[in-house]
Amino acid sequence: MAAGVLEGSVSNILEQESLKWVFVGGKGGVGKTTCSSIISILLAQVRQSVLVISTDPAHNLSDAFQQRFTKIPTLVNGFSNLYAMEVDPKVEGDELSGEGLDGFLSELTNAIPGVDEAMSFAEMLKLVQTMDYSVIVFDTAPTGHTLRLLQFPSTLEKGLEKVMSLKNRFGGLLTQATRLFGLGDEFNEDVMLGRLEGMKDLIEHVNKQFKDPDLTTFVCVCIPEFLSLYETERLVQELAKFEIDAHNIIINQVIFDEEAVDSKLLKARIKMQQKYIDQFYMLYDDFNITKLPLLPHEVCGVEALKNFSQHFISPYKPSHVRGTVEELQQRISTLRSQLEEAKLELERLQKGKQIA
Ligand SMILES: Nc1ncnc2c1ncn2[C@@H]1O[C@H](COP(=O)(O)OP(=O)(O)OP(=O)(O)O)[C@@H](O)[C@H]1O
Ligand SMILES: [Mg+2]
Repeated sequence: MAAGVLEGSVSNILEQESLKWVFVGGKGGVGKTTCSSIISILLAQVRQSVLVISTDPAHNLSDAFQQRFTKIPTLVNGFSNLYAMEVDPKVEGDELSGEGLDGFLSELTNAIPGVDEAMSFAEMLKLVQTMDYSVIVFDTAPTGHTLRLLQFPSTLEKGLEKVMSLKNRFGGLLTQATRLFGLGDEFNEDVMLGRLEGMKDLIEHVNKQFKDPDLTTFVCVCIPEFLSLYETERLVQELAKFEIDAHNIIINQVIFDEEAVDSKLLKARIKMQQKYIDQFYMLYDDFNITKLPLLPHEVCGVEALKNFSQHFISPYKPSHVRGTVEELQQRISTLRSQLEEAKLELERLQKGKQIA
């Protein structure tokens, strides 16, 4: 297996100062929320201000950070420049329906599937853009949903074309329809179309940013199993189709061949995982591939996230006892660097205590 010339870490993301949007996505349960939380913690160390957003209706940033978040960006406990928010792209921020256009809008959304979601996503982006964060990390919902979000600009464009052609064909009929729904003159078709147009401009603007690799990147999270490999390939291809940059893969839940592994079952799993890990390296030799160890416990709360974050920066090295002199030397150097990290962490904690 080639270790690859690329660094096995996410350091490249931290070094890319121009980055504005970081999407983190992958199959259900592989560790998207854990990874996006940690990436945002790491970014907060090098960037002025960071916002992490969950667009997953299951909302689990709150679980990861052990703090309740809402659709309003909230400072994460223990940080001065890291904010989190949780939105549901299906129901949140739909100001149009909130202003009495319900009937008409639902007619419209029936005609153009996805337009309501597109509009609330656009609203959310608009809001976020005015807030001036240096970088925004998205903890996205499982694969299909994310790709739909990224398709919204074209969905909306198609929808608008449809409405325009309807308008041209039926002339004043839409106006009559709005009257019929009792919406009054202020909600006539021109107002409606004006708003859709405005939304379209905004979403086009955002879409341009999403397609700019200087500004946007997508981090694919997966686990070393067949289905996940398959899904990752699908995701990578879809992203290429949408012209969205991706050059990081995080392989989570890797069981390393530690001294402690004596179980036959685990050994078999390790072998199976290795097969898929090799395939990841073969398929994605131009990606930064970061491997994360499977822990015996969950990654919950800021401390646990911070602890786990070291593996995002320096590749995890298992602790072998058996083996060659080189392996022992490697182990000693790993232990040394872990000790150094622990010392630094301790110093940081003690400093924090003094301040507090
Ligand atoms: N390497 C790991 N070792 C042990 N537990 C982990 C590891 N990575 C993540 N977990 C735990 O696994 C669970 C699922 O992780 P996480 O919530 O990050 O996945 P997800 O991809 O966001 O899931 P969902 O698709 O449901 O949103 C969490 O309880 C998390 O703490
Ligand atoms: Mg999640």
